[in-house]
Order: sequence, then structure tokens, then C-alpha cells
Amino acid sequence: MRLRTLVPVTAAAGAAVLGYAGVIERNWFALRRFEIPVLPPGTGPLRILHISDAHLTPGRRRLRSWLRSLDDLEPDLVVNTGDSISHPEAVGYFLDSLGPLLDRPGAFVLGSNDLFAPEPFNPALYLLGPSSARRKQKAPDLPWEKLRDGMAAAGWLDLDNRRGQLTAGGLDIALAGVDDAHIKRDRYQEVAGPADAGADLRVGVMHSPEPRVLDQFVADGYELMLAGHTHGGQLCLPWYGPLVTNCGIDRKRASGLHRYPEGGQAWLHVSAGLGTSPWAPARFACRPEASLLTLVPRTSS
Ligand SMILES: [Fe+2]
Repeated sequence: MRLRTLVPVTAAAGAAVLGYAGVIERNWFALRRFEIPVLPPGTGPLRILHISDAHLTPGRRRLRSWLRSLDDLEPDLVVNTGDSISHPEAVGYFLDSLGPLLDRPGAFVLGSNDLFAPEPFNPALYLLGPSSARRKQKAPDLPWEKLRDGMAAAGWLDLDNRRGQLTAGGLDIALAGVDDAHIKRDRYQEVAGPADAGADLRVGVMHSPEPRVLDQFVADGYELMLAGHTHGGQLCLPWYGPLVTNCGIDRKRASGLHRYPEGGQAWLHVSAGLGTSPWAPARFACRPEASLLTLVPRTSS
């Protein structure tokens, strides 16, 4: 192919990929389903809806509508692992999108994007390392307290450096969580200690799945850990997967359900998330998602 032909063909292909990633895949929401054998014999099932990284802005009507439709799944428990908003006026829209989900048992942690308004950035910098190293020190400038209070007023547990207990699906569930480790707001020492052995299930919740936090949850006896933050890599290569995770976890665990650590007994589910930063509005080979986790009895005690 001659150069004067190759250039426009390449440009057209690039424009098509960008259009697909920014318009089609970004709004092509997927519901992932996983079954996790983690409950005591003779209990369950327990259905957990895991949502994360909505990065909601007022104009994202399709996302708001899809989020609201998730109540039709009738989950026993909803867990939100943060980065819910990306706009100063998004809190009301986000709470409205949760709608009847707020009437169900729930728990949440915040992510860095719930506190700090998004700023323009070069996505190529993600290839150089986690974005936390590049974030400037400044005071939070998004209404994170309003977001927190809105979910807490509905009865959802705030797990930012806190422990909690709730009943869902007839099961007694012990939870602990940390604030966003990506920007070093995690204070594990405030939740440290053996998880409640008398509960039916022990769940660790965080925004960014940093190994230093995961290892402590495992050491304290939490058998299921839920996180977001990675966006599953957001821009992935077909047949290869994510290029980066934007945190300390390995590429293989950028999204989905895995044992943690490798060969261990605990489970880690990382959500690839529902949205994107408004400054990087594209997803490729990594559809936006929510997950329905069906917990069933362990196969061996
Ligand atoms: Fe995010």
C-alpha cells in the first residue's frame, strides 16, 4: 500500500476505534455474574451487587438509567467501592440513580475521585506508574460529605477506616473497610484485629486493591474482599488484557474474581467499574460493568 493511501486509511481506522471506544463501548454496560463458595454449609445463597467507579456526571443519562435498573436483580446486599462522582453537582444524580437500591442493605467506601474534581491529564502517563504519585496535594473540592451522608442516611454502612455489622439475606455479615489506599488515606490500624468469627461471613471492602491492605485483611480472617479503582485497565488489548492496573495489584487481577493470594483461601473480586474519568471518556475491550456475586456454601469446611 502506498504512503498516500496508508495515511488516510490509518487515520480512518483510528477515528473508528476512538468513536467505538468513546461512544459505543463506554455505554455498553455489562452485568457480570460470579458464584463464590464462601458461606458456611447449609446457608445462603446470598446475592451481592457490587458497583464501583461510576464517575457520574450529570450528562450521563444512559449510565444513570442502567444503574437504576439494577434493582431488578433484587440483591440481598449492595456494596459500592467508590469513585461514584466526577462532578460537583453529581451527588443528587447518583443518589437518584441508586433509587430503590438504597432501600436494601448496603455498604460503601469512597475513592479519590469522590473527593477531588477531575483534572485534564495525559492518559499515556498511566503507563509510567500509578496516578497517585502525580496527584498534587490539595484540599478536597467535591461534595464527598454530601455523598457519604446521602448513602449513610439510607442506612448503608460507611466503611472508610471502619468496621461494621449487618444482616442481609438472613446472614450475619461482619465488614471492615479502608479509605482510599491509592492516595494513602487508608488507616488499617483503625480496623485491625481478628474478624468476627461468630459471623456467617467476613468481608473486607476497599477502593484500590493495594496488596498491603489485602494482605492485612487476609491475615485478620476476611474471606471475601471487594475493590474497584482499576477500571479493569479501561483501554485493553484484545487477547492480552489490561496494560496497567494503576495500583499494586498484578494485571491478572485487574478485574474479576480470583483467589488472594495465589493459592490462598480468600477471594478477591475487583470490579472493572461503571464509568471513566470525564477526561478519558473511552473504554476499549473492557466494557463498563456491575457484578452480581452469588455466594453459596463452601464445598469443604
Ligand atoms: Fe475510578
